[in-house]
Amino acid sequence: MAKYNDLDPKKWKEYEDINTDSLWIIDRRDNSGAHSGNYHGNFVPQIPHQLFARYTKKGDWILDPFMGSGTSLIEAQRMDRNSIGIELQPEVLEEAYGRIQTETKNKCIAKVILGNSRTVNMDDLMENIGIKKLQFVILHPPYWDIIKFSEDRNDLSNMETLESFLEGFGDVIDNSTKYLEKNRYCACVIGDKYANSQVIPLGFHCMNKFIEKGFLLKAILVKNFGETKGKASQQGIWRYRAITNDFYIFKHEYIFVFKKVK
Ligand SMILES: C[S@@+](CC[C@H](N)C(=O)[O-])C[C@H]1O[C@@H](n2cnc3c(N)ncnc32)[C@H](O)[C@@H]1O
Repeated sequence: MAKYNDLDPKKWKEYEDINTDSLWIIDRRDNSGAHSGNYHGNFVPQIPHQLFARYTKKGDWILDPFMGSGTSLIEAQRMDRNSIGIELQPEVLEEAYGRIQTETKNKCIAKVILGNSRTVNMDDLMENIGIKKLQFVILHPPYWDIIKFSEDRNDLSNMETLESFLEGFGDVIDNSTKYLEKNRYCACVIGDKYANSQVIPLGFHCMNKFIEKGFLLKAILVKNFGETKGKASQQGIWRYRAITNDFYIFKHEYIFVFKKVK
């Protein structure tokens, strides 16, 4: 059995619901239980679900330094994993915490921390919780400034330039993976941006940050996304704009998986 998950090789034929292909088409969001889906900029629970199934075991500790509405923590609870979420906005954290509490089916711990993931003191955090290592880190940062999450100057969606966004994101990688166990995994979920008549490949920029820091790139997964709430009523306009111009409408985002080897 692999050391980093609970999958039994002998039962491989039974794991029909586990993705092994690099193209993830997820048509319907899992809105069951505490997953509300109301937070603008959340990800579908199926993303953490698939990643936790492949890269974690029951009882492992998972960190999400961009917790938002707590999708990862809710999914961790459901899958009997312990979790820590860090979020900059107090009201977002409070709302998430309330919903995470309703997933009480097991004895796993879910800790929420208010703070800036670039600078949060991970030594103190780990000591306070009483653990030595993390077994998985899931990062779903703002896609730079596509959605402005808050007015807070530490919010990565408020970084003025691509360089400062990437510098901030690099700090979060360093801080959040400091206690990630060697030979375990982390994943980053991110999409691209279009500005000044060109694609800004945020996904690949972020991917390169991990590679520069010595992580092994294990997977580039492409996931579809449907209409965002904002664009749902404007499908025709965007189709017209694309046909009469030279760009394509984004319908995908990336999930990059890395292994910590140093
Ligand atoms: C893309 S959302 C994550 C959504 C989450 N995966 C969910 O399903 O709800 C990014 C989140 O990161 C938070 N954020 C931005 N900069 C941050 C920072 N420096 N430290 C901690 N959280 C930050 C934002 O407030 C926002 O809630």
